[in-house]
Amino acid sequence: MNALNRQFELIRQSATVAMADRILALKASGLPIIGLQVGDPDFGTPAPVLEAATRALQAGLTHYGPSSGTLELRQAIATKLRRDEGVAYDPAAEILVTHGGIHAYYTALQAILNPDDDVLIPDPTWATHANMVVMLRGNAVRVPAPAEHGFIPPLEAWAQALTPKTRAIVLNYPSNPTGAYPSRDYLEQLQAFAQAHDLWVVSDEVYGSLYYGERPTSAAALPGAKDRSLIVNSLSKTYAMTGWRVGFLAAPAAVIANALKASQNSITCVAPFVQKAAAFALVDPEVQEAAARMRSAYARRRSLVLRLAQELGSSRILVPPPMGAFYFFLDVRPLRRSSVEVCESILEKAQVGLVPGSAFGAQGEGFVRMTIAASDEDVAAGFRKIIGWAEGESR
Ligand SMILES: Cc1ncc(COP(=O)(O)O)c(C=O)c1O
Repeated sequence: MNALNRQFELIRQSATVAMADRILALKASGLPIIGLQVGDPDFGTPAPVLEAATRALQAGLTHYGPSSGTLELRQAIATKLRRDEGVAYDPAAEILVTHGGIHAYYTALQAILNPDDDVLIPDPTWATHANMVVMLRGNAVRVPAPAEHGFIPPLEAWAQALTPKTRAIVLNYPSNPTGAYPSRDYLEQLQAFAQAHDLWVVSDEVYGSLYYGERPTSAAALPGAKDRSLIVNSLSKTYAMTGWRVGFLAAPAAVIANALKASQNSITCVAPFVQKAAAFALVDPEVQEAAARMRSAYARRRSLVLRLAQELGSSRILVPPPMGAFYFFLDVRPLRRSSVEVCESILEKAQVGLVPGSAFGAQGEGFVRMTIAASDEDVAAGFRKIIGWAEGESR
C-alpha cells in the first residue's frame, strides 16, 4: 500500500465524536438516550437570519465570492469587535472571513507556524487546539491548568514549558470544556510574558459572549496586545449558527495576508449567501435580542443544575459552577474511576450521553463534560439520572 501521512498517527480519534456516534447508534436502536454530550445550541438559528439568507439566495448570491470575505461582512465583524471587545480592526486588512471558528484557527496556525515550532496549549482544552498543531507539523506542548488552579495555568507553568522553539501560546476563554476564564490582571501578566519572549497569542474566543459574571477580556484588548494577537471567533455558538460554517480571524495585516493564502488555497471562499446572513446577524438589533434570550436560557439552566445539585446533595459527583460557555465540568474524582468508564457506565445504565474529561487532556481526567445546550427538561432529567447513577453505584 502507498505510504500515508504519518502525522495522522499522532492524532487520536476525537472522543467527543466517538461518543456522539455511539449515542446515535443507541438512539437508532430505540433507546431513550438523553444527549448531553454535544456543544451545539438546541435553539434554531434566529428567524431574521433565516430570512436574510433566503433573500440572499433569491438575489442570486450563489456563486464564488472574494476569498477574504465580503467587505460588508468584514465591516460587520469590525463593528462587532469594536462593540463587544473594544478593539478597532481595519476590515480591509486585518480581518479574514473563515469557514467557522475551526477554520479561523487553522488559517491562524498556517499563517505563523514553521515545522517543529512549539505551541503552548493549556490542558485541558478542546482537542482540536493540539491536533491542528500536530497536523501542521508543529509540537503541541501542553501546559497544565489543574482543577486546583481553577483550570487556568499558573503563570509559572507557561514559563516552565517555554523552549527556544516556542512560537505561540493558545488561549481559549471561556474554555471548552471548563467554562473558566482568567482575570484581566492575569491576562496582562501573560501578555507581558508573550512580549518578553516574542510569542504570538492565538486566542479562541468562540464562547466569548457566554459568561455568567463579569465580561471576559479579549486577548487583543490589553494595552499593546493587538499586534501579537490572533483572534479566532465565529457565529456558531452566539447565534446558534453551527451548521452555517462561518467565523473569522482578526489579526495583524501580515498574518491575515498569509491566512488568506491558506484559505484561498483550501476553501476558495465562504458561501456568499451565508456571508450575507452573517453580516446581518452581527449587527441587526432583533438578532442581538435573540442572542441575549439564548444567553438567559443558558444562565437559567446553569442555575437549575446548581439548584438540583444542592437538593440532591451527592458526595460522589461534585458540581463546580461554570464561569462561562455552556458546559458543566462535573468532578467525578470521588468515584475513583476513569472518566471514560464513568461515561460508558452512565450511558449504559442511566442512558445519558456525556464526554469524558480525558478527551481534553490529562488534566481533564476525573471530570466529565455535560452540556446545558439542551432543553431545560433534558438538562434536569439528565442531571437527576447522573446523580441517581452515582448514588446507585456507591451502594
Ligand atoms: C473551543 C472551540 N473553538 C472552536 C470551535 C469550532 O467552532 P465553529 O463551529 O465555529 O467551527 C469549537 C466547537 O465546538 C470549540 O469548542
